[in-house]
Amino acid sequence: MDTVAVIGAGMVGSTTAQRIAERELADVILVDIVEGMPQGKALDLRQAAPILGYDVDVVGTNDYADIEEASLVIITAGVPRKPGMSREELVSVNSGIVRDVCEKIAEHAPDALVMVVTNPLDVMVYAANQYLGFGRHRVFGMGGELDAARFAYFVAERVGCSYSDVSAMVVGGHGAKMVPLPRYTTVRGIPLSRLLDSKDIEELVRRTIEGGAEIVSLLKTGSAYYAPSAAITHMAEAIIMDRGSVVCSSVMLDGEYGVKGSCTGVPVVLGACGIEEIIELELEDEELSKVQEAAAEVVRLSASV
Ligand code: APR
Repeated sequence: MDTVAVIGAGMVGSTTAQRIAERELADVILVDIVEGMPQGKALDLRQAAPILGYDVDVVGTNDYADIEEASLVIITAGVPRKPGMSREELVSVNSGIVRDVCEKIAEHAPDALVMVVTNPLDVMVYAANQYLGFGRHRVFGMGGELDAARFAYFVAERVGCSYSDVSAMVVGGHGAKMVPLPRYTTVRGIPLSRLLDSKDIEELVRRTIEGGAEIVSLLKTGSAYYAPSAAITHMAEAIIMDRGSVVCSSVMLDGEYGVKGSCTGVPVVLGACGIEEIIELELEDEELSKVQEAAAEVVRLSASV
C-alpha cells in the first residue's frame, strides 16, 4: 500500500484524507501545526472504517519525521481567502508557510512527488519548485482539474445532460487569469458550440472563472473543499494507480506555450512518475496570449515575495 502525506489537516486536507481512505487508495499521514487536531481527525476517520469497510491506516501527527514513507505529499497548508479577497492577496502569508513545508519535505521525504494545493496556486507551485529543486515532473499543482470540473458542472446543468457526459478543458491561471476553453469542451464528443449559443457559453466561462469566489461569498468563512478534494483525489489516483490520466495541472513550463520559467495550468499526462508529458494544445492567438499573461503574472507576484 502506498502512503500519501497530506500537509494541512484543515477543510481541504481532512476531506482529501477521507476521500483517499474511502477509496482505499493509500495509507494517509495527516500533518498539521495545530497540536491534537490531525490526531483527532485521523482517529475519527479510523473509527469510520468498521462501518464503511476501508482497510487503510490514517495517522495524524505534528511531526514531519512521520512523512518519510510517503511517495506523494499533498500541500494544503495555508490560509484560505475571505469573502471579497482574491487568491493573490494570500501570496505573502502562504508563501512563508509553503517554504516551511518544503524545507520539511526536502528533509524527510526527498524522493516524493509533491502536489501543491495552497493558493494562490500557480505562485505556490512556482515557489515550491524553487524551494525543492526536485525537477518539474515531481512538483505540480492542483487547480485546473478543479476548474475543469466546475466548468463541466455548469455545462451539464445548462445543457441538461449527465455531469459525466461533459469533458471540459481549462488552462491558464487558477484565478482571474483562468482560461476555460469552450473549443476543447464537449458533451460526449459533441462540440459545445453545437449545443449552446455564444452568449450562453460566455456566461458559463464567466461563472467558471468566478467559481471559487462564488463559494467563498456563500460560505462567509473559508473556501471550497468538497470539489477541491475530489480533484486532488482524482490526481492522486492517477499517480498511485499509474493511470497516465490526462488532467489539467499547473506545471513549470520550459518553452511550451511560449512560456519559459513560469507556472500555469496546462493539460498533462499524470502517472506514477508525476508529470509524464505536457500536452501542447493548438490555441488561437487570443487564448495563447491569455495563457502567457497568466504565466507572466506568476513571475511578477513571485518577485514581490
Ligand atoms: N504546517 C502544517 N500545517 C499548517 C501550516 C504549516 N506550516 N500552516 C498552516 N497549517 C494548517 C492550519 O493549521 C490549518 O489547519 O493548514 C490548515 C489549513 O486549513 P484551513 O484553514 O481549513 O484551509 P483550507 O480550506 O483547508 O484551505 C487550505 O487550500 O484551497 C486552498 O485557498 C486554500 O490555500 C488554502 C488551502
